[in-house]
Amino acid sequence: MASIGLFYGSNTGNTENVAYILKEEFDKILPGAVDVHNIGRSTPEDILRYNNIIIGIPTWNTGELQDDWDAFMPKFNSMDMNGKKVALFGLGDQNGYGFNFQDAVGIVADKVMERGAQVWGLWPTSGYQFEESKAREDEFFLGLAVDEVGQTEMTRGRIQNWVKAVKAEFGL
Ligand SMILES: Cc1cc2nc3c(=O)[nH]c(=O)nc-3n(C[C@H](O)[C@H](O)[C@H](O)COP(=O)(O)O)c2cc1C
Repeated sequence: MASIGLFYGSNTGNTENVAYILKEEFDKILPGAVDVHNIGRSTPEDILRYNNIIIGIPTWNTGELQDDWDAFMPKFNSMDMNGKKVALFGLGDQNGYGFNFQDAVGIVADKVMERGAQVWGLWPTSGYQFEESKAREDEFFLGLAVDEVGQTEMTRGRIQNWVKAVKAEFGL
């Protein structure tokens, strides 16, 4: 088993693609560090097997969770996440949904903190244009914000920087 469990949900494939780019970038600095799982086929036990957890989620339907994460959400309530380190990344569209940009990251971050986890991998809000986000805390997002609709060309570089930060914050 790898040292990081990455769990993603994806309706149209963007978050899935980013999940595998993240794995590729981790492999460059920490070979074999990441196991990738689709949350649609995962249980709470699958997540709790890891101490270092990455969650990938797009925001859908104007401020809502992606379908598989939405279905999983109630299961968090039976999970003890004390001692777990969680880093989140989100997919969103700042031009199309500027009042709900990356909301799903904020919703899931709040839930895992409520269950006892520590959230790492905060990401600066500079370089994005949006009005409101449940994922925002002051000058940071509660995870890496990826926009494959309006800022595709920035995705690889953002991931590379975030992966280095998360590796350090996870103590790996
Ligand atoms: C109907 C619809 C609603 C969306 N709502 C939001 C939203 O509220 N906030 C946001 O940041 N992005 C929103 N998006 C953009 C998606 O998050 C974005 O397209 C993402 O890359 C999809 O990821 P996926 O392919 O992994 O499902 C929406 C897209 C669609 C088509």
